[in-house]
Amino acid sequence: MSMRVSRRGRVEPFHVMELLKAAHERQVSHGDVITMCAGQPSTPAPMVAREAAVAALQDGAVLGYTPAMGIPALQQAIAEHYTDWYDLQINPNSVAITTGSSAGFTALFLAAFDAGDVVLMTRPGYPAYRNTLQALGCRPVELECGPDVRFQPTLAMLQEWTSANGAPPAGLIIASPANPTGTVIAAEELAAIARWCEAEGVLLVSDEIYHGVTFAEDATSAWSTSRAGVLVGSMSKYFSMTGWRVGWLVLPDHLVRPIELLLGNLNICAPAISQVAAIAALGPQARPELQAHVERYAANRDIVLSRLPELGVTRWAPADGAFYAYADVSHLTDDSTRWCDEVLAGTGVAITPGADFAPGSGASAELDGARWVRISLAGATAEMGEAMDRLAAFAR
Ligand SMILES: Cc1ncc(COP(=O)(O)O)c(C=O)c1O
Repeated sequence: MSMRVSRRGRVEPFHVMELLKAAHERQVSHGDVITMCAGQPSTPAPMVAREAAVAALQDGAVLGYTPAMGIPALQQAIAEHYTDWYDLQINPNSVAITTGSSAGFTALFLAAFDAGDVVLMTRPGYPAYRNTLQALGCRPVELECGPDVRFQPTLAMLQEWTSANGAPPAGLIIASPANPTGTVIAAEELAAIARWCEAEGVLLVSDEIYHGVTFAEDATSAWSTSRAGVLVGSMSKYFSMTGWRVGWLVLPDHLVRPIELLLGNLNICAPAISQVAAIAALGPQARPELQAHVERYAANRDIVLSRLPELGVTRWAPADGAFYAYADVSHLTDDSTRWCDEVLAGTGVAITPGADFAPGSGASAELDGARWVRISLAGATAEMGEAMDRLAAFAR
């Protein structure tokens, strides 16, 4: 008898994981790989965070289950982080510590949306939103956000969508800076959208996990305008702690208790030692090290963007932040997944196909992910020039 696999469980693959596997194999066989496909810093956690973890281990700290909402000192440190960065006063009890922001999204979607609910996101956009919503029986709907709107949604788009569909969506996810494009939504547009969402009863999920990694103006928080939405944060990106798995949600009152119950059931708690390290990483001592990473990402961005024309590339997203260059390679391929495999085989440089972020055929051929690639800028600056030399030679 054949065993059943649920329809909900059949999510799209995340091609970058396949590429990482292929890159690893190539490194073993050729030893020449430059990895520009992973969305993670190439640096360890800040020294003070590592020291805090070592001290906890050496002191024999129990490191058992923490409260489902996280260690109170970490909730407090995150509340203070909002005062420090955005001049916002946040009740620490509104902060839920999660196992990376990824686990926060699962709990949040469960707490806020019912099966069948429509949640809007951008195309191109972060694939796990779509896949997680789908696995939970919700209906992710992509808004085509191209170069004309700097790859971010606008209030006009939401109003238009709502009048075309006769009712507003249940939710809207905005990531700023965004993955894969790195674009930051204009502060006044985010504010207008946040006000509209509150007025229309739409849950705004503001993914702010790349905050801190911006190259011109700082990104603004959605809670600077409306506290009806949810803020998503993470230790993964600016704080250089991807594998430690600590993220957080800042919640409006009505979602605090449902999230606490869901987190307690789904995860029990985020890793205790990582929470201890996160408290240290949020402190002032880590700042010089973390700011140096941002300066390196900016230098890497300048190198990669300035050399994209050597590949014949004429169009890319304005990378205001995060650590990605999202480039149109339609003059080189109409199948970015295959092309990225060929690039890896031909050059040893691993980059990510846009198909991960805008799969299938959307309304606009221009945004079809099969025509775009994402290049991660999070590595060592010395590698950027070498990678661009190899990519340019391959494109020629
Ligand atoms: C936009 C965005 N949101 C959320 C995540 C999840 O990150 P984490 O679970 O490490 O906090 C990522 C990871 O790449 C991302 O790019």
